[in-house]
Parts: sequence; structure tokens; C-alpha cells
Amino acid sequence: MPDDTTTAKAADPALVHAVNVHKSFHGNEVLKGIDLDVRRGEVVVLLGPSGSGKTTFLRCINQLESIDGGRIWVDGELMGYADKGGTLHRLTDRQIAAQRRDIGMCFQRFNLFPHKTALENIMEAPVHVKGQSREQARVRGMELLERVGLKDRPSAYPAQLSGGQQQRVAIARALAMDPKLMLFDEPTSALDPELVGEVLDVMRGLARTGMTMIVVTHEMGFARDVADEVVFMDGGVVVEQGAPRAVIDNPQHQRTRNFLRRMRAEQEEFVHAAAALADIPVPDPGAGGAAR
Ligand SMILES: Nc1ncnc2c1ncn2[C@@H]1O[C@H](COP(=O)(O)OP(=O)(O)OP(=O)(O)O)[C@@H](O)[C@H]1O
Ligand SMILES: [Mg+2]
Repeated sequence: MPDDTTTAKAADPALVHAVNVHKSFHGNEVLKGIDLDVRRGEVVVLLGPSGSGKTTFLRCINQLESIDGGRIWVDGELMGYADKGGTLHRLTDRQIAAQRRDIGMCFQRFNLFPHKTALENIMEAPVHVKGQSREQARVRGMELLERVGLKDRPSAYPAQLSGGQQQRVAIARALAMDPKLMLFDEPTSALDPELVGEVLDVMRGLARTGMTMIVVTHEMGFARDVADEVVFMDGGVVVEQGAPRAVIDNPQHQRTRNFLRRMRAEQEEFVHAAAALADIPVPDPGAGGAAR
């Protein structure tokens, strides 16, 4: 019996190779057989209504959740399990933590250490997990702060930074571990609208460097410009996937069309509410809203 890990790496150029992933919580099946391949350097945007399983799927990729069926490989390595002659054996927590180290994750809430400065937050894992010297970690931390546009704020504490700045520190912190893969779970949805752009710009820059990224977001502009592929999930299955323009502008499935229509309506409502607050005359809704 060949070693599955090696064969997967040799035969498949995908950095993430997920096959028939199943996950239930207390008998409630949340992922019902997800297949997804992400090639090196690719950006995949995951879309889908609330409760469709997007977060759960990201958490399964980096083994914050164990899976009940299927397999996930990241860079040829089977996540969470050792395959011994076709039988899966759960890895130890220590081994799983080691696998997770190669995957950066960025959530809606930034979870920075409040009592540490921006630079100290970034240095924390390289020093304590990777055993880098403080000096090495500091130099790299400063490079990363520059990359996320915050080189003048190394000594700021999270409470002294805006939400957008905190999220950029959180991205720099994830990058400090030199991840092979970055997972983003609605990284801008907790931000004030005027701060969304600066975080998306950092993510765009990251994509340009060739980072492999899976991004859960409702930012359609980002999906259109940056994603190589858009995947629409609903009810724990992948309903539709393809090039951004195909999925967003010409969806083939009714469920995708319904979701996009709902999202556009919400965004329009938001624009109207914002305009009303700013005392800007709102255009006549009949005169030309977004295409339905
Ligand atoms: N730890 C858990 N225990 C029990 N049920 C859970 C758990 N985590 C998620 N679920 C359930 O799994 C389903 C999918 O949740 P998930 O958070 O993955 O959806 P989502 O697509 O990320 O939604 P949203 O857009 O609201 O973030 C939901 O019904 C949720 O209640
Ligand atoms: Mg979610």
C-alpha cells in the first residue's frame, strides 16, 4: 500500500485538496461532502448565506474542528490524521498544532493581545513557537508592519489603533509564521465601512505576492478583482464554483441567484441608510437601482 501522503503530493499540484468533507455537530450535518482544490498562489473566495458552513469548513482545513468523513490535504500532508494502510489514526494534539503552524488564520475579530504592542503581538509566535531570537523576530516584525502600512506604529497598543489598523496587525501577525496558506473569515465585516478598503488593500497586496488564500467575504469588488475562483456554498454543499465573473455576474443556479440578489438588496439598503444619515438626498428607488 503506497503512502497516501507522498502520492497526494506528487500527483496533485493543489496546495489544498479537500475531498468529500463531512462534519456534523450533535447529529446536525453542517458539511455534506465538500470537495475543493486550491492551487498554489490561487485566491478562492467562499460565498454563501449565514449557516451554510463557510466558517466550519475553514476550521476543518486547519483542524480547529475534526472532520467526520473525507480527507483534507494541505501541501500534500493529510490534516489531522495519519493514514496507515487505509485506516485513519488521529494525530496527537501536538502533531496537529505543528500542522496548523503553516496555516495563517485571520478572523472577523482580531484577537490581538491587548497588553502587548503591535510589534510585540507580531513577535509573539515566532519567538515562543518557532524559537526565533527576539532580534530576528523584531526585524521581521518591522518588515511586516511596513508591508501592512503601519511601520510608524510598532509601539501602539491595540486600543490605540483603529479596527482597520488592528486587523492589519493581525494579518502581519499571521504572516510572521511564514504560512503556506492564509484563511480569512470575514476579515472586514466587523469594521466601519471607511476602514474596509485599507484591509482589502493589504489582502490584495498579499495576493500579488503569490500567497495562497481562501477568503470568506461578501466584498464583491474584492472577489471580482482578486479571486481566481469563487465558490458558492449553501446548506453544507458547494452549489456552484468558477471564475468570479461567471459566478457573480452569470450564476447558473437559482440558489446562487437568490443569494446574490439578497446581498445586493442589503447593500443598496445600506447605501440609502448611510446617505440618509449624511443628509444626502437619496435617489428615487425607481430611477435605477442595481440590476436585479
Ligand atoms: N461548535 C458548534 N456546535 C454546534 N453547531 C455549530 C457549531 N459551529 C457551527 N455550528 C452550526 O453549523 C452551521 C454552520 O455554521 P457556520 O458558522 O460554519 O456557518 P457560516 O456559513 O460561517 O455562517 P455565517 O455567514 O453566519 O458566518 C450553523 O447551523 C451553526 O449553528
Ligand atoms: Mg461564518
